[in-house]
Amino acid sequence: MSVHVKKRADYQPPAFLISTVNLTVNLHPTATRVVSVLTINRQGDHNKPLVLDGDKLTLKSLLLNKNDFSDFTLSDEGLTINTDEDTFELEIHTEIDPKNNKALEGLYLSGGAYCTQCEAEGFRRITYFMDRPDILAVYTVTVVGDTDLPMLLSNGNPVDKGQIDDGKHFVTWHDPHPKPSYLFALVAGDFDLLSDTYTTMSGKEVALELYVDKGKKAQGHFALASLKRAMKWDEDVFGLEYDLDIYMIVAVDFFNMGAMENKGLNVFNSKFVLAEQASATDDDFFNVESVIAHEYFHNWTGNRVTCRDWFQLSLKEGLTVFRDQQFSADMTSPLSNRIKHVRVMREHQFAEDASAMSHPIRPDEVIEMNNFYTVTVYDKGAEVIRMFHTLLGPEGFRRGMDEYIKRHDGQAVTCDDFVAAMQSATEIDLSHFALWYSQSGTPEISLSHQFNAQTGKHNFTLSQTTPATADQATKQPLYIPVAIEIIDEDGNQYVDEQGLINNGLIILDTPSLSFSVSATTEKLTPVLLGNFSAPVKVDNPLETDGLLTIFTHGKDPFNRWDAMQTLYSRCISALYDDVTAPIEASLWTDLESAIKSEQGNLELLGECLVIPTFETLCQTRKDIDVARLVAARNQFCLLFAQQLSKVLNHIFLHIDTGDYAYNQSAVIARRCKNVILAHLARLPEFEHVVVSQFDNADNMTDSLGALKAAQYTRVFETLMARFETQWCHDALVLDKWFALHATQPKDDILATITMLSEHPQFSLGNPNRVRSLVGSFAFYNSEKFHALDGSGYKFVTDYLLKLDGINPQVAARIVTPLTQWQGFNADHQQLMKAQLARLLNHKGLSKDLFEKVSKSLAYDEQHNH
Ligand code: TRP
Ligand code: ZN
Repeated sequence: MSVHVKKRADYQPPAFLISTVNLTVNLHPTATRVVSVLTINRQGDHNKPLVLDGDKLTLKSLLLNKNDFSDFTLSDEGLTINTDEDTFELEIHTEIDPKNNKALEGLYLSGGAYCTQCEAEGFRRITYFMDRPDILAVYTVTVVGDTDLPMLLSNGNPVDKGQIDDGKHFVTWHDPHPKPSYLFALVAGDFDLLSDTYTTMSGKEVALELYVDKGKKAQGHFALASLKRAMKWDEDVFGLEYDLDIYMIVAVDFFNMGAMENKGLNVFNSKFVLAEQASATDDDFFNVESVIAHEYFHNWTGNRVTCRDWFQLSLKEGLTVFRDQQFSADMTSPLSNRIKHVRVMREHQFAEDASAMSHPIRPDEVIEMNNFYTVTVYDKGAEVIRMFHTLLGPEGFRRGMDEYIKRHDGQAVTCDDFVAAMQSATEIDLSHFALWYSQSGTPEISLSHQFNAQTGKHNFTLSQTTPATADQATKQPLYIPVAIEIIDEDGNQYVDEQGLINNGLIILDTPSLSFSVSATTEKLTPVLLGNFSAPVKVDNPLETDGLLTIFTHGKDPFNRWDAMQTLYSRCISALYDDVTAPIEASLWTDLESAIKSEQGNLELLGECLVIPTFETLCQTRKDIDVARLVAARNQFCLLFAQQLSKVLNHIFLHIDTGDYAYNQSAVIARRCKNVILAHLARLPEFEHVVVSQFDNADNMTDSLGALKAAQYTRVFETLMARFETQWCHDALVLDKWFALHATQPKDDILATITMLSEHPQFSLGNPNRVRSLVGSFAFYNSEKFHALDGSGYKFVTDYLLKLDGINPQVAARIVTPLTQWQGFNADHQQLMKAQLARLLNHKGLSKDLFEKVSKSLAYDEQHNH
């Protein structure tokens, strides 16, 4: 297979610029005609030809300065125009086939509606173009369609419309803001429309329009209200105001990712728009609000200031994720939000960094750009932005942001430009900090502690190391802000004699640094990485009593939660060594009093009662025997339920969730209740409680909470059958049902999944369905995916071979767990690699899968020879 590796270091400024694009799109299911008229200017003194990208296009005709033109060459990748004109107009006629576009990139049909997805490199599937983000042009777009497509949408403001003949009509759109091609969008179809308005801080009225499938109007109100909250928040917190007269959002069922920030015309996966009490969980409501905000915030961080090239993706994504996280924390609660982010980092980002796909938040090499919309670029990227915020403080960060926007509005820029803007707002030298952009891997920090009884001094040494990653053999020390508290058994706080700890923060910018604390007590407990102040692992040597001291006296609630997580993980390790090993009785009494002490704080309590997932446990272990780790975790959960059932049940019965509402206190109450129910469900005597919650639930959070808990009971299948009857008309709800089936660790699970893939509501062409059934199995049914007869690995591989020919982007996401074999023992590794080899040998494998699979297998060779 011939593949082209693109390197960040090879960036060349464009040889030509395109200042205006005039598109006419004449819609037809299998033969859409696109006419593109471009104004092009040569840059500088050279005689290179003009190279345009194109993919799966049929060229119909070409005119240069309105004359037929034939001095060009066509290839699979595009069109090369040989001309010595410096300024010219190019008119390109192409034909495309949206109906047979199952990859959902470029123009495609979703249900009965046409829609586009151009990020990262999909515009080249619509017309020949310099499809790179540093080509900023003003677009005028005319959409022509049959009258059974009453809504014809594109970016910007509508400027003209009319009837063409009896069957057809058109709308012309003009977007005054120069933009890169990846932000182009077109939607045509028949939708229900929800309208509203928003008055910006300078008094401009903006029309808000939300387009959903017919009949789903009632499910759109929450999204629209969320949009208004996001618009207000960006004005209040960043002084950023919307810049067009109209903001449109369209919800579609067929979508590869979450949503897309096309200028003035966002396209959303319907699961991030539709939400109402009966069919959406609290998590769904949360996600709708957060994704709506994310795409809205891109209007400034992404659209007005965009990326010079795709290696800079984190410039917009890391920053925008950070902004949506801050927004969600303000709308809901900082603690549960922070715990959510940390779970994503520990479950997924640490795993990525430990795998062959390890890359810095600003990657250096890419084969298929779609493979780099990763938890590293997005979530670790957001953690890096958060560290700027920690170092500069909220005011400093705001000054840096103001400067960033002021300097770069209307430009396509780099991560270095962002750092430079932040630098202008602080006295701190950020040059060492910037290493976070180029160094991959998860740093590990540790703190050694010695007490000298004679001097009454505690000597501490804080150290960092970053293990080598697949992409980088050697690592340098990073600039790490480490939040730290030092407390004694009574919770008194101590400071260091050197004054390295300022406002609870110490900067670790060398391999190690030492400080001392003077105290009469021998028992000082250091509390590290408050609020997860940096995306690192902490090697924590504390024993049970130290962890409980943190839980009892720590100031930072994140640390208190984390201490419990560490404690549980320790217990599971002991059971991993010997599943019959007794756990000290005192642990259960300690836990019982800890639980009782937090009865008034259901938010912290609910999170503290969650046992670390299998996936999280994997990130602090090596040479894993999956069956043993699953058994150890199950045993711990069972003991936890048995030993604590009385206090848990007591709290369960006293939590008042009130009448249904989606608000903070109700969400917290339902969350805590459902976490407890999942524990109790492991005991047969609580089966009826699960059934009764299922019977009486008046909202999806409680229904689903009951179903999840039922996974440990004998009533699971019965309740699932009832649920199916009730919800078989609603695909988004059935996705939850598919996922619950797929994560059931039962012996005939593969037969069940095969059967479900023939369900009338299932379709291989719909990414949401595929992710909920096959993705859930691969990512979260660890026991059966990792079965030692190799059946789980083989099943997923067989499925990927089918899917890859249809939708490679989604196939390449679902392959992830198979490529992350590093943590598992030799038996697992051998079986996983055998399936990766099958994929690699497959004729016609996509670039997407090829990149991930070949890297994963190559990593093996590197490390074994
Ligand atoms: N830019 C989108 C976001 O908000 C990501 C995205 C949506 C995307 N659809 C895509 C990326 C398709 C690649 C391909 O994060
Ligand atoms: Zn984004």
